[in-house]
Amino acid sequence: MDFKRHIAAGIRAGELTEEEVYAMLALPPNTEMGDFALPCFRLAKSMRKAPALIAEEIKNAYPADDPLVAEVTAVNGYVNFKIDRAFWAKETLAEVLRERERYGASDEGGGRVVCIDYSSVNIAKPFHIGHLSTTVLGSALYKLHKFLGYRPVGINHLGDYGTQFGKLIVAYKRWGSREEIEKGGLRALNALYVRFHKEAEADESLNDEARAYFKKIEDKDEESVALFEWFKQLTLKDVGRIYSLLDVHFDSWAGESFYNDKMQPVIDELREKGLLQESEGAQIVDLAAYDMPPCIILRSDGASLYATRDIAAAVYRKQTYDFYKCLYVVAYQQNLHFRQIFKVLELMGKEWAKDLVHVAYGMVSLEEGAMSTRKGNVVYLEDVIRKCVEKALSIIAEKNPSLENKEQIAETVGVGAVIFGALYNNKIKDITFSYDRVLNFEGETSCYVQYTCARAASVLSKGGAAAAYLVEEVLPQEFELIKRLSEFPSVLKDALDKYEPCFIARYAVDLAQAYNKFYFDCSILNAQEREKNFRLALTEATLVTLKNALGLLGIGVPEKM
Ligand code: ARG
Repeated sequence: MDFKRHIAAGIRAGELTEEEVYAMLALPPNTEMGDFALPCFRLAKSMRKAPALIAEEIKNAYPADDPLVAEVTAVNGYVNFKIDRAFWAKETLAEVLRERERYGASDEGGGRVVCIDYSSVNIAKPFHIGHLSTTVLGSALYKLHKFLGYRPVGINHLGDYGTQFGKLIVAYKRWGSREEIEKGGLRALNALYVRFHKEAEADESLNDEARAYFKKIEDKDEESVALFEWFKQLTLKDVGRIYSLLDVHFDSWAGESFYNDKMQPVIDELREKGLLQESEGAQIVDLAAYDMPPCIILRSDGASLYATRDIAAAVYRKQTYDFYKCLYVVAYQQNLHFRQIFKVLELMGKEWAKDLVHVAYGMVSLEEGAMSTRKGNVVYLEDVIRKCVEKALSIIAEKNPSLENKEQIAETVGVGAVIFGALYNNKIKDITFSYDRVLNFEGETSCYVQYTCARAASVLSKGGAAAAYLVEEVLPQEFELIKRLSEFPSVLKDALDKYEPCFIARYAVDLAQAYNKFYFDCSILNAQEREKNFRLALTEATLVTLKNALGLLGIGVPEKM
């Protein structure tokens, strides 16, 4: 139940709509004053009255028989609402414990389709720490949309087109062996790629050879296409391992090469609409009027570009899925690229261009420093995950040596730490990944939240599931917890509206902190029967909600830790 919504609906304030009142309702810093407050100062002008008088009137007009509100007061231009705490507690607990793994879910999406383009790895290139954010952000947005009643379509727009495949074929033919590549997978492919660049520095002709091979792929030369497909299979096998560790899934793997035969109609349309211009032999769409460099559609040698493929992909997605929105979870380095292609689509008269959203995020670097694919100093995402799992295992072994299933638990904890570490901050911020920080059991981390879950689970296993409880008096620590619990649905809505899974991560930490305060201040198992049952119910509701929150981020919860 959304208490703020409930109060907003009961307030009569001049011409203000419920939405406007909702937006104005604030949480007073001190709950002694009230649980919600409506400041009336901004209303003084339109209502031509003193704020104090307005507050008084709003107070008098509020329904006196509202069971939820224990007290309404008008103080210094504020209307303060005190919620009936027992009522609030009862309603919230009943809702959480009825809905359980659906608590927080809604059908606001009404089955509308949202395409989400995320992770979008490049074939035969390392899956490195730079791909962490797009992968886990996109996956969280996918789960969140589903939870709120949308129909998400997860798309891995594979980077499977470009001259690098010609380079790889040259390198493979010269220096590679089948066994070595089968065994080494992506890393062995990358080693070849690095070697190519080193050798090409001394021997320019290698680049010509690479271009020739790339052309062969395009002309469907059997041998070259077979090699390319093999590189692709090897890559997908390698990244598949990471996706399954991170619980990440896709509905479509249509990558750049998928659009090979879908660009011509788009190019024709651009030409028909008079948008295409020649410039230094290339075909471009001029965007000077929008303060952007031109969007290049065809190079002077006739080759298509990344942007051409993205324009064709957007058209294809609209035709295929008739999306309500199409999200691109891609680093902010590509801001200009997306502004350009969205503009081109708009100029083509696609009214749905307004439904394309670039969900931009910042860079992740490791404390150890930057990296470069060409030079070969790469931080593989898989190594980061494995290292986190190892560290988690050693921490767990030290803290709780007799714990069963340590390996499995360490995997849940280590993987969770990596995901949470990438999702805890506003997505646009650059972050430096630190193993010690993401695995700090007392910090703002997933292991802190997981540990709180294990604590709650242990309380429940000792106390048994809550029997019927009666809520009479609610202590401040209990009330803080109740408030947090009741906030969850609106946090999810906010996270979806702003494409910010970090709201969910922060919420999980806040809720865990509220639970731990309650746990240390109020005895649960030794309380009087009535209180004990209420507190067990609170414990259960917390566990349910924390699990839902972490689940939406793709993080599991071990029973014990
Ligand atoms: N593969 C690209 C890269 O690694 C990201 C693709 C993002 N999606 C898209 N539709 N452009 O930079």
